[in-house]
Amino acid sequence: MERSAETLVLAILLISTAIVLVKCENEGEDSSFVECELNLRHRKQKVSQLHFYLYDNPAGSNPTAVPIAKAAMTEKSATQFGLLAVADDPLTVGAEQTSKLIGRAQGMYASDSKQEWNLLLAMHYTFIEGKYNGSSISVLGMNHVSTQDRELTVVGGTGIFRMARGYAMTKAIYNNFTTGEALIQYNVTVFHY
Ligand SMILES: *[C@@H]1O[C@H](CO)[C@@H](O)[C@H](O)[C@H]1NC(C)=O
Ligand SMILES: *[C@@H]1O[C@H](CO)[C@@H](O)[C@H](O)[C@H]1NC(C)=O
Ligand SMILES: *[C@@H]1O[C@H](CO)[C@@H](O)[C@H](O)[C@H]1NC(C)=O
Repeated sequence: MERSAETLVLAILLISTAIVLVKCENEGEDSSFVECELNLRHRKQKVSQLHFYLYDNPAGSNPTAVPIAKAAMTEKSATQFGLLAVADDPLTVGAEQTSKLIGRAQGMYASDSKQEWNLLLAMHYTFIEGKYNGSSISVLGMNHVSTQDRELTVVGGTGIFRMARGYAMTKAIYNNFTTGEALIQYNVTVFHY
């Protein structure tokens, strides 16, 4: 493929991300693919520390999580291997359910271990508070439910958390393995721009 002439674009400010592109090249005749250099002098990395509680309850009359699929052997498995659930869990400032709501964790989790209680989480945590209102972080990875202290990976985000990376340290404050009801404390560290 023939490379088109190099285009020099000075200081294109992408509104809202404050990412300054200094030099861009088109590949091919159209501009479907454009590669640019970044001017990092104008790009400050920030770190946000988030602290909240997540409440997940698959039981009761108003569940926050519902199983949507399972395998024939899931019922017989001690770890509910093969269970897939969709959750819409409240995130609150304090541990009490009456505490101020600051966001919701929505997405899916799947039981993916035959030996231990492990969940593969694929969820976005969207906040409604102050300048974080409408911004979200995405968590993808293993949630080792059998241990009290766990670590989750933050793989991206939107809004304030665009291009985010980070991790969440979580702790089960309450866990009922019969009903699945759980209250989890979260300390999240997110690097973003
Ligand atoms: C968050 O944003 C929504 C939609 O823009 C708005 O309706 C709501 O009032 C905002 N909440 C807060 C706490 O600022
Ligand atoms: C979160 O941070 C608080 C305050 O530093 C600490 O007391 C708590 O143990 C931490 N929890 C987790 C799950 O890391
Ligand atoms: C779990 O929930 C069930 C039903 O509400 C209750 O009977 C049981 O005592 C709970 N177990 C624990 C460990 O809290």
